[in-house]
Amino acid sequence: MIRLGINVDHVATIREARKTVEPDPVAAAVAVEMAGADQVTVHLREDRRHIQNRDVRLIREVVRTAMNLEMAATAEMQEFALALHPDSVTLVPEKREEVTTEGGLDLKNAPPAVGDLVSTITKAGIKVCAFLDPDIDQIKQAAHLQFHAVEIHTGSYANASGKAKEEELQKIKDVAAAIRHLGLAAHAGHGLGYHNVTPIVEITEIEELNIGHAIVSRAVFVGLDRAIRDMLRLMGRF
Ligand code: PXP
Repeated sequence: MIRLGINVDHVATIREARKTVEPDPVAAAVAVEMAGADQVTVHLREDRRHIQNRDVRLIREVVRTAMNLEMAATAEMQEFALALHPDSVTLVPEKREEVTTEGGLDLKNAPPAVGDLVSTITKAGIKVCAFLDPDIDQIKQAAHLQFHAVEIHTGSYANASGKAKEEELQKIKDVAAAIRHLGLAAHAGHGLGYHNVTPIVEITEIEELNIGHAIVSRAVFVGLDRAIRDMLRLMGRF
């Protein structure tokens, strides 16, 4: 059974557009669980453009399923994660000028501090996942650094069409098999939605999806509960 994590950053983005108190991503986290999702995902960015420290703290308190904290691999965020103790941490690259996380982490050229961070957070009982492009060398490096899981960046697949989309899908299938072969868990996320999720769900090695934008976009018209249930149905959950 494939798990669904909902990225609630997009709710905070709407709030921050007016610098007000609504819509509250903490309320979204509660609604996400009531709709049957398995995890609440938040990205606490260095520039705090959407999710704020207060959101993360309160979401940690209210979530009864699992909380996944996406963060940059910095000493400041390591301290934050150790104090917060989410169920899992997903390391992502961060560039101030990007609109969203644009590519996977470059583990091949990562400083040794990244390996130390993985080991420190893992020893604290928190699973550590790397957000990586579907590139076999990056996957091997994740295994070498003893990550628990790899979240495959599905953005190129989501943005491609025709033959290029088939090729991107094949890359995802190949790396999902490699991730499992190396003993790590395979997750996927970015740019997934109602029109493109099915071929990803059919990859049996993939255990978890993290989806934000498409679900929050549909929620504007049909409500968050229905939007999540529609996705769970496509994932064969009922
Ligand atoms: N996974 C990771 C690591 C991400 O950075 C994001 C984007 O916030 C997502 C999943 C969700 O992507 P989307 O909003 O396109 O569904």
